[in-house]
This record gives sequence, C-alpha cells and structure tokens, in this order.
Amino acid sequence: MTDPAKILLDGQSIDLPVIIGTENEKGIDVTRLQATTGYLTLDPGYANTGACRSAITFIDGEKGILRYRGYDIAELCEKSTFMEVSYLLIHGALPSQEQFSRFKDRVLLHSLIHEDMKSFFNSYPGHAHPMAILSSMVCSLSVYHPELLKPNPNPKETSQTITRLLSKVRVLAAFAYKRSVGEAFVYTRPELDYVSNFLHMMFTTPMQDYEANETIRKALDVLFILHADHEQNCSTSTVRMVGSSKANLFASISAGVCALWGPLHGGANQSVIEMLEDIERDGCNYKKYIEKAKDKSDPFKLMGFGHRVYKSYDPRAVILKTYCDQILDQLGINDPILDIAKGLEEIALTDPYFIERKLYPNVDFYSGILYRAMGFPTNMFTVLFALGRLPGWIAHWKEMIEDPNTRIARPRQIYVGAPLRDYTPMNHRTDP
Ligand code: ACO
Repeated sequence: MTDPAKILLDGQSIDLPVIIGTENEKGIDVTRLQATTGYLTLDPGYANTGACRSAITFIDGEKGILRYRGYDIAELCEKSTFMEVSYLLIHGALPSQEQFSRFKDRVLLHSLIHEDMKSFFNSYPGHAHPMAILSSMVCSLSVYHPELLKPNPNPKETSQTITRLLSKVRVLAAFAYKRSVGEAFVYTRPELDYVSNFLHMMFTTPMQDYEANETIRKALDVLFILHADHEQNCSTSTVRMVGSSKANLFASISAGVCALWGPLHGGANQSVIEMLEDIERDGCNYKKYIEKAKDKSDPFKLMGFGHRVYKSYDPRAVILKTYCDQILDQLGINDPILDIAKGLEEIALTDPYFIERKLYPNVDFYSGILYRAMGFPTNMFTVLFALGRLPGWIAHWKEMIEDPNTRIARPRQIYVGAPLRDYTPMNHRTDP
C-alpha cells in the first residue's frame, strides 16, 4: 500500500490516493477532490491528466517504448500482421488459429457497403478531401445498421458491429479515393488479405488489375501496425469522449476521424510532404526552414518533429526510417524530398534548440515519404493513418463501454469572463 499524497488547502491537509500502474507509472487520484474540497485541477491540453485506467497500450516516452497488450512494437512489426494485431488490440490476447480464421472470414464477409451509399460519394465535389468523406460515411453507416444502435447491445451484437466497421472502413476509404480521381469503384476479392484487398480497391482500374508488390504490401501492413494504437492521443480521447455519452460506435469513430485530421495530429503526415515540397520549390534550402522553426515570431513549425509523450525518440519513426531506406532502394525510387528530409533531420538532431526541447522526428516524418513511394496521393495520407488507427479506436471504445467506472466525460473550467452585469438596451450602448 503506497502512502497517499497530501495537499494543503485552506489550512487543511487532504489525503489523495496514489495509483500505481503495471509499469510503475504513478498517479494521484483526484476523483473526489472537487466534491470534497470545491477545488478542481487545471491542466490545459490534459498533459498531466489520466482520464482512465487502460490495459491496451503502454508507452514510456523517456525510454522510447511502445507496447500493445504487453507486446513490443518492433516484435509485432517483424512477426505479426495488421489483422492479428487488430484482434490483439480489440480482444486483449493473440488469437488461436481457429479464432483468427473466424475473425478473418468475418472481416471478409462484411466487406460490402449498401449499394445506396455509392450515390452519397457522387454528391461530393471531385476535389473533396477524403477525410471529410470518410468521417461522414462512417457516421452514415449507422443508418444502415439500426439493429446495432441499441443503447445496451449484447456482446455478440457489439462484436458484429466491430467486425463490420473494421471491414467497411477500408472500402469507404478506397471509394473516397476513387471518387476523387473520377474512377469506377472496385470491390474486394475474397482470395486477397486485408492489405492486398485495400491496395486492389485503390489501384485497380477497368484497364489494369493491380498486383500488390510484396515489398509494398508488407510495408503497408507494418505502417498499419505502427499506427494501430497510441493510448490516449487526441483522436482516441475523442472517440472515448463521444462514446462516453453512449453515442454509438459509428458516431464515436467518425468523431475520431475528424480529430485525427488536424495537422498537429494525423494530418501531420500530409503537412510533412507539403513542407518538403515547399522547401524543394524554394531551392532545397532546408537550413532556412530550421531557422524559421526556431524563430518565435514565425508561426512555422517543423512538421513531423516533436511529440507530447516521446522525449527521447519515437520508436515508430525508428522502424519506419529503416523501411524508408529499404523500400526506396528496392523500388529504385530516387526522391529529392528524401534528401531534404534527411538534411533536416541531421541538422535538427544536432541543433541545441531541438535538443533542449527534446524534439525528434515522429512517425509522420517518415510515413508520408513511404506512402508517396507506394503511389498514394498526398490527401490520402491521413486516411491511411485512420485505417491503421481504427482497431485502436475500437479497442478503447470497447474498453470504455465495458468499464463499470466509466462516467460521461465532462471536464470543468476556471471561469475568467465578466462578472455579473446589467443588461443595457441597444440604444444605450456605445461602440467600445
Ligand atoms: N518545430 C519547432 N518547434 C517546436 C516544434 C516543431 N515541430 N514542436 C514543438 N516545438 C517547440 C515549441 O515551440 C515549444 O517551444 P518553447 O518551449 O520555446 O515555447 C517547445 O518545443 C514545446 O512544444 P509544445 O508545443 O509545448 O509541445 P506539445 O507537446 O504541446 O506539442 C506537438 C506536441 C503538437 C506534436 C508539437 O511538437 C508539434 O506541433 N509538432 C509538429 C506537428 C506534428 O508533427 N504533429 C504530429 C505528432 S505525432 C502524431 O500525432 C501521430
């Protein structure tokens, strides 16, 4: 039993329980603080706030550790597949042969969307960002499965909903792309695995069947594994927050897609490439951009650098860097953008500004370069992130609804606005 933390408030000593996690992370439980003392904790951006207890993912930002359900990320990338990792995250344990084959069959079985939904895609302008289409389509899926929207579905129904969503989101993502390039939609093929099917739906045209190159297939599988979960990040917390009101799974995931879109989160992979392209157009002078990033009067940030949690290195970026070199080499791609990326990285890693602030390349720094090498257009990068993150979002939603301690998410605030004042009629008001 650990001694409680003590705080002194209005001359009174208050004991707060100390919580210790599996890996010895320590927290102070303030659940009863407001109710018993009237004080609340203020923590903009929730950097010091644990919103739940979770058994899904462990991160040690100082040591650069990332584990899903106790398994190290590097080992999973080497030995597992995205489908198996999805099962692991959602169900909590690696599947037996039989469980896995049932899971894969169910994912394949649910890979069609209602034909009516195809007309929705046609209502978007051709230049619509695929993240906008994806979030709306995920929410729209709910109208076709009203039987799954009961406030208290049983575990079998929940499991069906989850499999449906896992399978259909990649179809929606590929259809969003086809809509943006004005090509016919392509359906899944039963003999293909999850990733090969996605590549087939993306790149097969009436003129040519897309045969997934094994190097590309494996790299995309690894990219999906690396993105599959990252504990209480902005989009996952959004999924949990929306789900805490008992909104259905589709609505909660759709909100997660929107949160991921921002350039400070999943949208950074698109921003990284756009930044590198800007630097290329500007004569490849990346040193100028390092100086801009350090200049506090300049809003420019080095996209793909820095992380709220990782303060030594991002283990996902380390794995992706190796893949980047291998893939570009194997595919014979000579991308000038990679040289700019390497130059930026080299300077940033030795520059005191970045060292002091512990700013290292994050997963988005390399993922964009890889997606580009695979032939994905830039505006699809964040959609690919969403596909990878989907099992993580689902696992957190499931953990949250199954946790008897879940309460509706409802942060507090310190009000700093005007005190009580009298209403004045409009003709008595003067311009400020
Ligand atoms: N370029 C230049 N300076 C930076 C950068 C950057 N990319 N990131 C942080 N800093 C500086 C800040 O200006 C701040 O400096 P100061 O202490 O002198 O004021 C210091 O480093 C700390 O940064 P914060 O913004 O307080 O860090 P926070 O944890 O709030 O933000 C974030 C983390 C959003 C990832 C930030 O580093 C960033 O904007 N990076 C670029 C966008 C990006 O790559 N996002 C993807 C993150 S990974 C993911 O979501 C999958």
